[in-house]
Amino acid sequence: MKDSNIIDIKDIKKRAKQLKNKKVNSRDTAPNLQRAFYESNDKDRTKILIKLKNLEKYLSTKDVDTKIVNQQIDDILDVNKQYFLKLYHRFLPFIVKHKKGSIEEVIDYAVTSNGKRIRAFLILLIFYFNKGAFYQNIEPFMLAIELIHAFSLVHDDLPALDNDELRRGKPSTWKKFGEAEAILAGDAMLNTAYNVLFDYYLFISNLDIKDMVGLYDEVDFTDTSLFSVKKNDIYAYSMLQDLLQHYQISMATLCAGTGIFGMIDGEFKDIKYTKKKVSNEKTFEMYVEKTAALISVPMQIGAIMSFVPERNDIAIYTKIGVDIGILYQLNDDLLGMIGDEKKVGKPIGSDKKNKKNLAINSVKELEKEIKHQKDLIEKEIDKIKMLDMNKKRVFKAFLLYLSKRDH
Ligand code: IPE
Ligand code: IPE
Ligand code: MG
Repeated sequence: MKDSNIIDIKDIKKRAKQLKNKKVNSRDTAPNLQRAFYESNDKDRTKILIKLKNLEKYLSTKDVDTKIVNQQIDDILDVNKQYFLKLYHRFLPFIVKHKKGSIEEVIDYAVTSNGKRIRAFLILLIFYFNKGAFYQNIEPFMLAIELIHAFSLVHDDLPALDNDELRRGKPSTWKKFGEAEAILAGDAMLNTAYNVLFDYYLFISNLDIKDMVGLYDEVDFTDTSLFSVKKNDIYAYSMLQDLLQHYQISMATLCAGTGIFGMIDGEFKDIKYTKKKVSNEKTFEMYVEKTAALISVPMQIGAIMSFVPERNDIAIYTKIGVDIGILYQLNDDLLGMIGDEKKVGKPIGSDKKNKKNLAINSVKELEKEIKHQKDLIEKEIDKIKMLDMNKKRVFKAFLLYLSKRDH
């Protein structure tokens, strides 16, 4: 390959500038995706990565104060929220700039309400843990998982399911726009998630090697010999092939975790078990599907997209994801009993009102089980091969933070 074939970062920036002048308000996603790809040098992401590094440093000092750690995590999650909203604006400007009375208006309401964006963050966190390169390639997944999660909430609140009128501190989508509107907007959100993923896939599968080489300054190389032009080309080519394969696997993983092997089946069981006596085992199985699937899947995607070389690590992340998901749902049940409605942003006592089948019904037992679950996951974190001590500490701090959440 000739030197002249290589496009450097300056050219990429020039292209981004040209794309900026293209019409945004179109339903044609291609220019939007190109823009999303070339403009992905996001300040918020850099901020998050720096803050994670600082947290890592702080956790390795003596006399760590949990309060300070939790403040730092709050701070990271706040920036992550901004980052998520920017992704949404970059990928789906035609929904952001909706007309009043359109389905886009309903979708925009459901997506932009004040979610914690934990699932998007989990993709980023595990990708960071595994020293993934080319962060722009996980961005479509960060957006898609939150679109799918938000869709699940829109449907979960419907009168036919949980009949809840408050979500993320605002009227639930059906309460605000009507039932039929919420059902259809939810359907469209699920589709839009895959739309973004497939369009981006088509985009990267048409990328040229030279595009990849141009983005080399994002790769954290330790082997400087890789910087010779020839090796760059070979490396970029294998990166591109690897990327396509890993992207496909990630899409399939997301799809399975969302449908009849995951969230939707869990929601179905939740309805079936309501007002019935069901074994504890079955209730936990239902939790694994309705909640843990969409917590484990982003962790798997973060690991897969970072090309984690240790296969066994992906299995451990999957297992940890499921266990964090159970912990997350137990906490949700607890907050549903004793939470502060203003903080939680959801109606307290809804499970009781609906005679829901919960795994554990007493506050004391719930608190005990959450702690037990946390201790169990800590041991699993220790088993991850490709994670150094410092990053394990960050992971455990985040776990502790999740196990004590109040919203
Ligand atoms: C709520 O999830 C539903 C559950 C699966 C427990 P979150 O607590 O992550 O909701 P948001 O996205 O922050 O509103
Ligand atoms: C959470 O169901 C799982 C979903 C797929 C939405 P819940 O009914 O327990 O969650 P909240 O409390 O309404 O958020
Ligand atoms: Mg509900």
